Amino acid sequence: MIANSSINVRLASIRDLKAIWAIEEASYATPWPRETFFVDITLNADAKYFVAVIDGRIVGFIGGWFKEGALHIVNVATDPHYRRMGVARHLMTFLLGLADDLKVDRAFLEVRRSNTAAEELYESLGFEVSGVKEMYYPDNLEDALVMTKELKHADSRD
Ligand SMILES: CC(C)(COP(=O)(O)OP(=O)(O)OC[C@H]1O[C@@H](n2cnc3c(N)ncnc32)[C@H](O)[C@@H]1OP(=O)(O)O)[C@@H](O)C(=O)NCCC(=O)NCCS
Repeated sequence: MIANSSINVRLASIRDLKAIWAIEEASYATPWPRETFFVDITLNADAKYFVAVIDGRIVGFIGGWFKEGALHIVNVATDPHYRRMGVARHLMTFLLGLADDLKVDRAFLEVRRSNTAAEELYESLGFEVSGVKEMYYPDNLEDALVMTKELKHADSRD
């Protein structure tokens, strides 16, 4: 774990596409096409992507769609050389904080049943399994666990 203050989070721009996609390619057996990130970052008004930066280097990213009062976290990944340092937790906390500011009621995501690292991350942040999408991933027909966190807004807390 490194100090949160040395992990900077900022909004992603199209100039970050190369670095984001390099992390995507290093992180998944079946990476998303580069075009998917291009569309989300430049055209999709519902999408917000952020990058985590350490010493000027992009070491992780997160993407979410804000739609119908909910935050759908569609991707989060950390450069394999920077894992277990708190990067993904920092990105998730940042995006959940933004959702809270925007008065979003609920955050949810899908995770492969076999991805215990990600599941542990989400559970540690208060997400709970709320459903299963059977054979959701076309590459190996693996099930997705749907994980959800209800968000309590700052002005409604005790
Ligand atoms: C899952 C992933 C994003 C975690 O990123 P990370 O920056 O290493 O995560 P963090 O350092 O913030 O870890 C936060 C917590 O997540 C859990 N966690 C992370 N990696 C883990 C692992 N390999 N095994 C078990 N738990 C793990 C732990 O609870 C950890 O807290 P701890 O280090 O205090 O024990 C990263 O492994 C990754 O990029 N994987 C490939 C892409 C992916 O699967 N994304 C999720 C798609 S749903």
